[in-house]
Amino acid sequence: MSVTMGTNLHELLRRHREEEARLRWEGTFAEYLDIVRRRPEVARLSHARLFDMLRAAGVTEAEEGGDGERRPRQIHFFDGQLFGLEEPLNQLYDYLESAARRLEVRKRILLLMGPVGGGKSTIVTLLKRGLERYTRTEEGAVYALKGCPMHEEPLHLIPDSLRPQVSEELGVHIEGSLCPVCRYRLEEEYGGDIERFPVQRIVFSEAERVGIGTFTPSDEKSQDIAELVGSIDLSTVGEYGTESHPLAYRFDGELNVANRGLMEFVELLKAQTEFLYALLTLSQEQSIKTGRFAMIYADEVVIGHTNEAEYQAFVKNERNEALIDRMILIKVPYNLRLSEEVKIYRKLLAESDLQGVHVAPHTLEVAAMFAILTRLEPPRHPNLTLMKKLRLYDGQPVEGFSPRDVREMREAAEREGMTGVSPRFVINCLSSAVIRAENRCLGPLNALRALRDGLDHHTGLTREQRERYLNLIHETRREYDEIAKNEVNRAFVYSFEETARNLFNNYLDHIEAFCNKTKLRDPLTEEERDPDEKLMRSIEEQIGVPESAKKAFREEILLRLSALARRGQKFDYTSHDRLREAIEKKLFSDLRNVVKITTSAAHPDEEQLKRINQVVQRLCDRQGYCPACANEVVRYVGQLLGR
Ligand SMILES: Nc1ncnc2c1ncn2[C@@H]1O[C@H](COP(=O)(O)OP(=O)(O)OP(=O)(O)O)[C@@H](O)[C@H]1O
Ligand SMILES: [Mg+2]
Ligand SMILES: [Zn+2]
Ligand SMILES: [Zn+2]
Repeated sequence: MSVTMGTNLHELLRRHREEEARLRWEGTFAEYLDIVRRRPEVARLSHARLFDMLRAAGVTEAEEGGDGERRPRQIHFFDGQLFGLEEPLNQLYDYLESAARRLEVRKRILLLMGPVGGGKSTIVTLLKRGLERYTRTEEGAVYALKGCPMHEEPLHLIPDSLRPQVSEELGVHIEGSLCPVCRYRLEEEYGGDIERFPVQRIVFSEAERVGIGTFTPSDEKSQDIAELVGSIDLSTVGEYGTESHPLAYRFDGELNVANRGLMEFVELLKAQTEFLYALLTLSQEQSIKTGRFAMIYADEVVIGHTNEAEYQAFVKNERNEALIDRMILIKVPYNLRLSEEVKIYRKLLAESDLQGVHVAPHTLEVAAMFAILTRLEPPRHPNLTLMKKLRLYDGQPVEGFSPRDVREMREAAEREGMTGVSPRFVINCLSSAVIRAENRCLGPLNALRALRDGLDHHTGLTREQRERYLNLIHETRREYDEIAKNEVNRAFVYSFEETARNLFNNYLDHIEAFCNKTKLRDPLTEEERDPDEKLMRSIEEQIGVPESAKKAFREEILLRLSALARRGQKFDYTSHDRLREAIEKKLFSDLRNVVKITTSAAHPDEEQLKRINQVVQRLCDRQGYCPACANEVVRYVGQLLGR
């Protein structure tokens, strides 16, 4: 044994061997029947298998909250992989649930339709990889007739006349008949004795062409239907004498290979009609028409994908009516939630070679903001800007709108999420920004610049769209300016929380005295004072409380406070959104001059330098900046304020 090989590696290889051994099972059909008796689920059909696979990873059912809020069902199988696609994934789940119960829908082809780079291929790939893993587990075990080119269900051996009885005894549904090869071998090799026919456990593997098939239409003329349904093996026809001999046929088309599992049809609607009809026969009748043989039974989930333009063109053609009728359409629009979009980028960055590059705070958020703005339909509500709509969709509070309004807005939208820029576009822009500038730190401004440059190379944008997108970059930039100012301001306010709290408590004391018409006692001198109107107003004015409404505002706050107190809860400066905003703004405005003079000084003096260094330090320690981007944001805010 090699000494250079680490023991961990040996351990790993040993476990791998054990795993492979565990998965290797071979027995007779008689033994298989015992397995089915114990665990009828091994004989389930493809839709049920896929559905059980999804369920095996866990599902949290949907929840209705108050005020029209609704959390959709979470299908944990997709956790960490797909973000903001709850709706299409739930439709897929519902479909599989019905199909698993062998309802009529299982005879349809699933068609995912959505914009480029919206995750269609990823959904199908996850299902494929999932099935491969699932069939390696005990709950997901699959058995097949040994040597069958379509690894068919062993129960096909049972003659029709015996099926009702066997079916009842084993508690399983039996469907389908032997393939020509197995039928031939049953007679030739086992003399018709089904109990002797060997059965083996199989695991799905796209690479080994078991249980998973993929078909991509290519150049029209050159593509042969054999790629789907197999073909005559001319080299063996001589040996077997006739083309209709089962051993002279290669059952190796993608539809054959995918039997019992999943068949992906890439760009489905680009395929020739002949191919589509082959698919239709498969899903409608569970059979493949192959060469000179009668229909051959096959059981598989068929999922195709397409883009919207292709779909619309296809639907317009009357000749396709029958086909459309037999498809189930699932729209896969782009994600529309800011925080989910950021997660997509994190995932894509982790998979890329951009590790080692520091991504400054707010960079992904800003890029995501732009991307989502390009996808949103203009708000119909007069008081709603596109940016506010983005916040609402993200679940952030926007004054005057409830979750119910958001739900209605989403339902009223027509094609929202079907256009705009894709996550792939954004990530490509970010990558080229990093590579071009040899930046070791990627910030929001680099990102926006890269996105703007990227628009020049974005094919398929009309002039109007480009104009619109440039404007949205502008709008995002303005939003970022506010974020940056806020962040630097906060860093300036030493122990921000404590200062805010003091100001808040002070304010409360004063409005309490005001509302109760009492006086405040100075803790040092014990002198009695009237409540300080100037102090109270300086806070209220920050959020535009007019003089005429100040009394109502103050009373409302005290009411809230006592309501919370009754429930034994503490009233804190963060308990009241508007008051919190007012307090923060007041603090910032007190500090504005300090921040402005310090950050925009062309030649900072010693005192100013010290302050800047403290701020940079604080940004690094608490907000996730590195020295490079911290200095940059401080300089940038200086520019903004110095204007
Ligand atoms: N909602 C999402 N959640 C997670 N990742 C996503 C999402 N949308 C897109 N992606 C990522 O973006 C990339 C492109 O997605 P994918 O290739 O699946 O899109 P597609 O719809 O098949 O596009 P096309 O029409 O170009 O074939 C993938 O890496 C995918 O993981
Ligand atoms: Mg794709
Ligand atoms: Zn067979
Ligand atoms: Zn940095």
